[in-house]
Amino acid sequence: MWFQNLRADIRAARVNDPAARNSFEIWLTYAGVHALAWHRVAYFFHKIRLKLLARIVSQLARFFTGIEIHPAAKIEGGVFIDHGMGVVIGETAEVHRGVVIYQGVTLGGTGKERGKRHPTIMEDVVISSGAKVLGGFTVGKGAKIGAGAVVLKEVPPYATVVGIPGRIVRIRTPESEDATHANMVAAMALSHEAKEAAAIEAARAAEEERSK
Ligand SMILES: CC(C)(COP(=O)(O)OP(=O)(O)OC[C@H]1O[C@@H](n2cnc3c(N)ncnc32)[C@H](O)[C@@H]1OP(=O)(O)O)[C@@H](O)C(=O)NCCC(=O)NCCS
Repeated sequence: MWFQNLRADIRAARVNDPAARNSFEIWLTYAGVHALAWHRVAYFFHKIRLKLLARIVSQLARFFTGIEIHPAAKIEGGVFIDHGMGVVIGETAEVHRGVVIYQGVTLGGTGKERGKRHPTIMEDVVISSGAKVLGGFTVGKGAKIGAGAVVLKEVPPYATVVGIPGRIVRIRTPESEDATHANMVAAMALSHEAKEAAAIEAARAAEEERSK
């Protein structure tokens, strides 16, 4: 399960980061991938009630990645935290697969609620850099939160929310979103294939040059 989630996270990085070159580099150098891998260890310790150990793992991960995730937060595989520095994810937050989170994002509470006080982020949501999503509500599938927004209430699926306090500026259709996403994934796959083909061609040319 841990490895499956790690693979899903690496895949998410490949799909969502045009700068990503290959899975090995992502595994070795992406702080967001490391933070999620450590979080799953912390979550396991939290589940079996080794809460202090869970906290220690979480704080060590924070020290190395700049990303603070409470050990109890529920995060599915296939989430991508890009750059990562300054991301905070609270205790009762839930993050579903396909979500992209940029640096400086807080999934927090308003300080006025008890119990479920951090947001639930549904599939394929993008939370842009510096955005704060505060409260125990749901951000619907495919929604986009603009950079620097402060979101204080429920966001419907496929909505774009910007500003302080967050306001909806657009609601897209799932069909157009699926088409855009499918095109993007196809383009990424093509660009990876093209890069690999170019590397093979360059290696062959170098070999020929040497053997002359
Ligand atoms: C919100 C965002 C994801 C774009 O979503 P979108 O659905 O394509 O929305 P649009 O670009 O069409 O913008 C819709 C409206 O919101 C405004 N808007 C967009 N982003 C905004 C932001 N962060 N703050 C305030 N207003 C914003 C636009 O000006 C536009 O207003 P208009 O209709 O009056 O012209 C994007 O603007 C954003 O914030 N991206 C940041 C991504 C990021 O964090 N990158 C960091 C990489 S290191």
